[in-house]
Amino acid sequence: MVSEIKRSSYPIGVFDSGVGGLTVLQELNRQLPHESVVYFGDTARLPYGKRTQTEIIEFVQQILVWMQSQQVKMVIMACNTSSALALDALRQEFDFPILGVILPGARAAVKKGRRIGVIATTATVNSEAYVQAISESLAEMQSHAQIWQVACPEFVPLIESNRINDPYTLEVAREYLTPMLAADIDTLVFGCTHYPHLADVFRQILPAHVRFVDPAVSVVRAAAKELEILGLRHTDPRSAISRDLTKFYVSGDPEQFAQISSRWLNKMPTVEKVVLSPVELLS
Ligand code: DGL
Repeated sequence: MVSEIKRSSYPIGVFDSGVGGLTVLQELNRQLPHESVVYFGDTARLPYGKRTQTEIIEFVQQILVWMQSQQVKMVIMACNTSSALALDALRQEFDFPILGVILPGARAAVKKGRRIGVIATTATVNSEAYVQAISESLAEMQSHAQIWQVACPEFVPLIESNRINDPYTLEVAREYLTPMLAADIDTLVFGCTHYPHLADVFRQILPAHVRFVDPAVSVVRAAAKELEILGLRHTDPRSAISRDLTKFYVSGDPEQFAQISSRWLNKMPTVEKVVLSPVELLS
């Protein structure tokens, strides 16, 4: 039996299909600077938003088994598509806590607005996970709000190919956000962890009073609370440089991930390739 003191120094596992999870990593570094992180990007198989639920459950199960082998003390699914389609199916299979981004994002949204727009991948939109989570949060608060959803399948490939400032990206964003403008939303939820990377683009289109909700902020707050409750929070100030000890792994091309992610990490990270082994399919 490993003591909780020892386990508190184990890393937090964070995964996404690609660079979207970096928005959660940045928040982790801000709120929990003493924690070390194992980051995995399933770049060989992105975008997840176009995958079926069966595929996503299979991929996420492989990632979680691998995370287990990395001795993580907790996993944050820094991917809305995985949180929407695989969290409930897989959570019970592992003995470490697994946090998804949807419920924390929904709770943050209902605290901010009454006309809520959600932009997300096609798979997340079709799952209705946000509509359900926002409705549950509203019921808890005995409050009400209207919800609009728009699937934005072009964003992830554009971000992953480093085309954030491309005029075409602004054009696509304008098209996706037109129904949100027509609905006169007061709050926009980034229902995909890649989308905060486009916040400046969205600002050029939406009026200044529209508030942005980045679920990364609240999922990390929830993670901090959970670690505290479990006695697993790592607070040793000697490891204040632990953010530099974040280890990056991808299933695709490590060079490409290093290039693209350096934009947000402000340095060129060392990235290793991992081949995930198939695990037994769920019955
Ligand atoms: N960043 C992920 C999400 O939050 C996955 C996007 C994708 O690969 O389509 O949904």
